[in-house]
Amino acid sequence: MADKGPWRVGVVGYGRLGELEPPRPANPVPSSPSPRQPDLVVEVAHPKIIHESGAQILRHANLLVGSPSALSDQTTERQLLEASQHWNHAVFVARGALWGTEDITRLDAAGGLRSLRVTMATHPDGFRLEGPLAAAQSTGPRTVLYEGPVRGLCPFAPRNSNTMAAAALAAPSLGFDGVTGVLVADLSLTDMHVVDVELSGHPGPRGRSFAVHTHRENPAEPGAVTGSATVTAFWRSLLVCCQLPSRPGIHLC
Ligand SMILES: NC(=O)c1ccc[n+]([C@@H]2O[C@H](COP(=O)([O-])OP(=O)(O)OC[C@H]3O[C@@H](n4cnc5c(N)ncnc54)[C@H](O)[C@@H]3O)[C@@H](O)[C@H]2O)c1
Repeated sequence: MADKGPWRVGVVGYGRLGELEPPRPANPVPSSPSPRQPDLVVEVAHPKIIHESGAQILRHANLLVGSPSALSDQTTERQLLEASQHWNHAVFVARGALWGTEDITRLDAAGGLRSLRVTMATHPDGFRLEGPLAAAQSTGPRTVLYEGPVRGLCPFAPRNSNTMAAAALAAPSLGFDGVTGVLVADLSLTDMHVVDVELSGHPGPRGRSFAVHTHRENPAEPGAVTGSATVTAFWRSLLVCCQLPSRPGIHLC
């Protein structure tokens, strides 16, 4: 696409992420006076948009998915892949708060990833939960609301499982069924989102395993679902995918 000049970018959703104000001075996102035929559509609204319109968008443009929890739905993932191949457009997925995305992908591709667990903790006001999880009560200062496969969490915490969904995409050998997601309500985290990523490799001849644990503390406005560093990360994802070739498939950026 580079020879086509600057990308025309369309945005679905005009909230915290959709304002698309650069968090600090940066090269502006390439834009055009004609918004009608975008090269890239950025979804920053709700996973529902991806379920309902993702494949249709790919008919016309590349797609940057801001709500990767949408891909926990197997039908949606298949439809996006098929449309991407058919129309020769890329599905970019924002890595969001997932620290170490490339390292996870490399280890997975080398066959060295045995387990991957992503824990997201914040104050209960930072959650937007649905279904049975909406009724889950905090029973103390720190309550585990969900622990299990990421696929089982995404439909009920679509706004709070994006990092876990990105991890499932970064590690396809484990995927949405093999990556463990943990959602924790912590009354002490009034202005912070905390993401822990723990992974292990296969035991070596002496029984020892490779292991990594990252701990990310992201300041957030009380009650917000998106922390400030994640807005910066999303902006960077947008700039990066505007520079990548629009090859078919699903690509974390
Ligand atoms: N990938 C990441 O790192 C990451 C980080 C934060 C948020 N998110 C996700 O990105 C999305 C946007 O986040 P945000 O913090 O900007 O949320 P927000 O609530 O501030 O903004 C969402 C906007 O989309 C609009 N919207 C919602 N449903 C819509 C629909 N069906 N059709 C059209 N517009 C609709 C809302 O009116 C609102 O203006 C959410 O799905 C959120 O979970 C992803």
